[in-house]
Amino acid sequence: RRKVAVLISGRGSNLGALIAAAMKPDYPAQIVAVISDKADAAGLERAKGFDIPARAVARKDYDSREAHEAAVLEAIEETGAEIVCLAGYMRILSEDFVRRWKGRMINIHPSLLPSFPGLDTHHRALAAGCRVHGASVHFVTEVMDDGPIIAQAAVPVLNKDTAEALAERVLKAEHKLYPAALALLARGDVRMSGDGMSSASGAGTFSTED
Ligand code: GAR
Repeated sequence: RRKVAVLISGRGSNLGALIAAAMKPDYPAQIVAVISDKADAAGLERAKGFDIPARAVARKDYDSREAHEAAVLEAIEETGAEIVCLAGYMRILSEDFVRRWKGRMINIHPSLLPSFPGLDTHHRALAAGCRVHGASVHFVTEVMDDGPIIAQAAVPVLNKDTAEALAERVLKAEHKLYPAALALLARGDVRMSGDGMSSASGAGTFSTED
């Protein structure tokens, strides 16, 4: 089973979904460490509840972004992780960091990329009048929310939706999508090739239906 480190900044509900998936005996990955850039991230307690080593490498404990990143990198490498999952990690990574983990680091983003990179995706999808919205898991590259897409889940936008209701519907889809996308990578069914395109054999589309 491939060893995975998960980086978080907050609640950690996607982390919880990855932990739950990895508890199944046939899942191809195991969560070996959780690292947060925020000391009070609820996800740290969630991980500790499952006896998964979890620690904060808090930005405020370092003088510069570079020093903080170096500490995060070291923390990841100490765990022996082979794959890094960003799960609500709200920090932009440097080119060096990305290069170090290229093809082995994935992120979940709450929109159907390439629509709505960045923040506030649910408000923006509503404001744009989208009738379909969703979530994407992609390889992390130097450009934020831009790397090759591994898998996506679509959810409907309902009449009179609020951003909160839509966010909740998308989050439920995220909790299925992220474990499925990580499994593709851990099994070697998806790979980022040198030209930055992902080549995937195996499914990459996930619906909210069971
Ligand atoms: C998730 O919705 C994730 O897609 C989003 O943050 C939330 C984290 O929730 N990520 C981003 O916006 C990244 N730009 P969680 O901590 O409960 O998993």
